[in-house]
Amino acid sequence: MTIPAQSDGSAGTATLTEGAARGETLLKVTGLQKHFPIKKGLLQRQVGAVRAVDGIDFEVRSGETLGVVGESGCGKSTMGRLITRLLEPTAGKVEFEGKDITHLGVGGMRPLRRDVQMIFQDPYSSLNPRHTIGTIVSAPFKLQGVEPEGGIKKEVQRLLSVVGLNPEHYNRYPHEFSGGQRQRIGIARALALNPKLVVADEPVSALDVSIQAQVVNLLDDLQQELGLTYVIIAHDLSVVRHVSDRIAVMYLGKIMELADRDLLYKSPMHPYTKALMSAVPIPDPARKAAKSERILLKGDVPSPISPPSGCRFHTRCWKATQICATTEPPLKELRPGQQVACHHPENFEDQAPQDVVLLSDAKEAAELVAEDALAESARTSAAVAAEVEAAETEAAQAEAPEAEGDTEAAGKAAESGKKSTESAKPTPESVKTAPEDGEKSTGSPKKSTGDAESAESTESAEGTESAESADEEPPAKEK
Ligand SMILES: Nc1ncnc2c1ncn2[C@@H]1O[C@H](COP(=O)(O)OP(=O)(O)O)[C@@H](O)[C@H]1O
Ligand code: SF4
Ligand SMILES: [Mg+2]
Repeated sequence: MTIPAQSDGSAGTATLTEGAARGETLLKVTGLQKHFPIKKGLLQRQVGAVRAVDGIDFEVRSGETLGVVGESGCGKSTMGRLITRLLEPTAGKVEFEGKDITHLGVGGMRPLRRDVQMIFQDPYSSLNPRHTIGTIVSAPFKLQGVEPEGGIKKEVQRLLSVVGLNPEHYNRYPHEFSGGQRQRIGIARALALNPKLVVADEPVSALDVSIQAQVVNLLDDLQQELGLTYVIIAHDLSVVRHVSDRIAVMYLGKIMELADRDLLYKSPMHPYTKALMSAVPIPDPARKAAKSERILLKGDVPSPISPPSGCRFHTRCWKATQICATTEPPLKELRPGQQVACHHPENFEDQAPQDVVLLSDAKEAAELVAEDALAESARTSAAVAAEVEAAETEAAQAEAPEAEGDTEAAGKAAESGKKSTESAKPTPESVKTAPEDGEKSTGSPKKSTGDAESAESTESAEGTESAESADEEPPAKEK
């Protein structure tokens, strides 16, 4: 359980946690649903609902990264907002560290806002263009009335260094930064609170391929340093495959497959997973040879207002049979560490016999993918892989006794005698970052607490979509 330090405004307030040990369940979701009502007419009568998330079960273990993938419109962002409680669920249960938080009100959520943070997709609209980055990153402290040791400014500058930005740029405005740098600002803001769980909604999809790798790498480094738990949402597998421990594949508001990363890559069992994977060529000659395995799904995801009967994927699945159109397959553990919802799973000897007649639309549902359509995805995949591998090698080499902080920051940390989550905070030097503008980050003093809620979390309150919207038209996207 969390014992949040009370935000009494005193210097040196700490967030003490006796949270879930590594590997234990941090977040548990059961039967989670979000149906957005569709209202019509003068009386605004409800005529239907968008079933954005339609009954999902999963858990997130402390210290892991759960990747969530699926095409656009599958309900990933809605899921992210439900588990961070920026949206009120229609049904189901969300438990954080064993506590039911499904229907907590604003007051009840207050301590949790420090523990669960969200990084948003669009670094162009998620930062208020009228605020300096100092104001943006310090908002969490101000909202919670927390005065970190050494003052807010010092702490914000430290956070900027941690994410690889120049702390001297405290007074600059978001438009003065590139997309990747803005995403770093968003990450700094999310980290201000020393959170346990960070939900990153497509954190790099608005960025250039080369910058994507840097930001993914930064997230990875921060996880090592801070023991963070991540839910990383992405629309394809190119980004999450390198950083996830487990991956959930979503389709039309449901989880189709949830498996350990290696299992999922070695032998995907859900046809939809296979299709998603075939769109992300893996830089591995053995796999590259298997061109016939590449599948392009035709058409868009059907409307979540009236999802297809039976298996929701049956209108696009090349294996669909009659039972697929009538009976919804439950998500079942077909192998240890691999849950699948399919009547005719791939790579599984017990699958139902294929003598049943394929649905005619299923025959038309997929085609082989053209090489050039795969090129960009391949580049992202390779770039992220290279970055992650390089970081891992570096980390392995750096695992020497000299790691004992001789930096000013580490010195201060020792002095302050603060432990647990706090002392786990990285020093700017300890996180290898590569700001894309080539700026060097310089060290700044270590701080005390992370305790406050982000501007988004607080301001958006329950069930609103305002979380990432700035109140002004954001500057044009630079590509
Ligand atoms: N506030 C909302 N009101 C009505 N429909 C919504 C709202 N937010 C999302 N949706 C719908 O829910 C579905 C899932 O959306 P979303 O969670 O954003 O998917 P993803 O992040 O996977 O692209 C989409 O059809 C979307 O249009
Ligand atoms: S084989 Fe049937 S159950 Fe399995 S994904 Fe295809 S349509 Fe769904
Ligand atoms: Mg989304």
